[in-house]
Amino acid sequence: MNHENIISEKLITMPRIGDNAPDFEAVTTKGKIKLSNFAKDKWIVMFSHPADFTPVCTTEMSGFATRKKEFDALNTELLGLSIDSIHAHLGWVQNVRENTGVYFDFPIIADLDMKVSKLYGMLQPNESETAAVRAVFFIDPEKKIRLIMYYPLNVGRNLNEILRALEALQTSDKFKVAMPLDWKKGDKAIVPPPKTLDELNQRLEDDSIEKITWYLAKKNI
Ligand code: BEZ
Repeated sequence: MNHENIISEKLITMPRIGDNAPDFEAVTTKGKIKLSNFAKDKWIVMFSHPADFTPVCTTEMSGFATRKKEFDALNTELLGLSIDSIHAHLGWVQNVRENTGVYFDFPIIADLDMKVSKLYGMLQPNESETAAVRAVFFIDPEKKIRLIMYYPLNVGRNLNEILRALEALQTSDKFKVAMPLDWKKGDKAIVPPPKTLDELNQRLEDDSIEKITWYLAKKNI
């Protein structure tokens, strides 16, 4: 289910964590795509940038491109988007490749009609009426939205955090644990708190976990 807010007297669709990712078809630098046709076993990190040929966006896209192998290792497809034409995208990809050797080897949606930007709440009129904010949607293999980041036009994102959050989500799913502050691979994870007195008593006797207190315990994964 999606949620609608009135912002600046405009109806804005804002998907939320736990929603099914709204399906769409779009033209990209790798041809036409449909979200629901992405491989059923892959995660998707879909991210928007305000505009091609702009400095912060160039640093961000170059970062995604140079660290693409790390997303591959996490079984994750990258999908970029801005409200630019396919010709602008192609020109920018080629310009960055010529100038820096970095190649944006993942699809970038040309969302000139703003269809996808509006569907995902990437167009936030009090920030810009015409450019998408810097959004990141983490979409799991069931095509559910699991985590959302929104950054303004003037602040670039943190790729370390994007990769950390992706790995934290996947690790949480795999081991049925929760991830504490600043969790990174190799750190202990949080065991879900007990729901009954029996579970609480079992926990008190369990020497295999690190007990900070009865409701906060950690274990190696
Ligand atoms: C940038 O990427 O540098 C940028 C794009 C749009 C507005 C402000 C900055």
